[in-house]
Amino acid sequence: MKFFVDTANLEQIAEAKDLGILDGVTTNPSLMAKEGISGTDAQLAHYKAICDLVDGDVSAEVISTDFEGMVKEGIALSEIAPNIVVKVPMIKDGVKAISHFTSQGIKTNCTLVFSAGQAILAAKAGATYVSPFIGRIDDISWDGMNLIEEIAEIYAMQGFETEILAASIRSPKHIVSSARSGADVVTCPLSSILGLLKHPLTDIGLAKFLADHNKANS
Ligand code: E4P
Repeated sequence: MKFFVDTANLEQIAEAKDLGILDGVTTNPSLMAKEGISGTDAQLAHYKAICDLVDGDVSAEVISTDFEGMVKEGIALSEIAPNIVVKVPMIKDGVKAISHFTSQGIKTNCTLVFSAGQAILAAKAGATYVSPFIGRIDDISWDGMNLIEEIAEIYAMQGFETEILAASIRSPKHIVSSARSGADVVTCPLSSILGLLKHPLTDIGLAKFLADHNKANS
């Protein structure tokens, strides 16, 4: 399973990369706004900075909601670097844009996916990645992980090659459950990745090993 970090913050991306486990990055317009990046030139420059930092795929989202606008934006984004993945929302023109990008050899990430039906459409359009938002589904008291399992079952049965990118991850537990449910990729805040490190018995065990070593070597 691949690990992406879900942020536009360069320090956090560098910290995740430094761990040696980073396979890529996802961003969205909210995450870009959070970094105070506004205006097309600044956005393109920021995506370039992320692509320069990371070897793996970097998702950059289009803002347009019509086919022509998405194609224009997506082409400009794809020209930033070879590792750019054009992120397109699951709407009618989005599906059409994904099909178009697929025919042009441009990688895509179909975002804002909340049902198996939407995931089937994304795969039919040839999306490189499909992003079911599990945290937002849990937020409305539905079961986000159930959706990952459902999509994984359908894609395996039908031979779809689109990778399942579990998004809207809110905790280390979400990462573990995504791995068990058949996700190909998880995109998470850095805090959730770092949360995987933690176990009280590890801390207790390490303290004991070091204490015993120090006693024997004093
Ligand atoms: C996915 O690509 C999105 O950027 C992201 O995972 C959304 O997460 P949120 O629901 O925490 O905003």
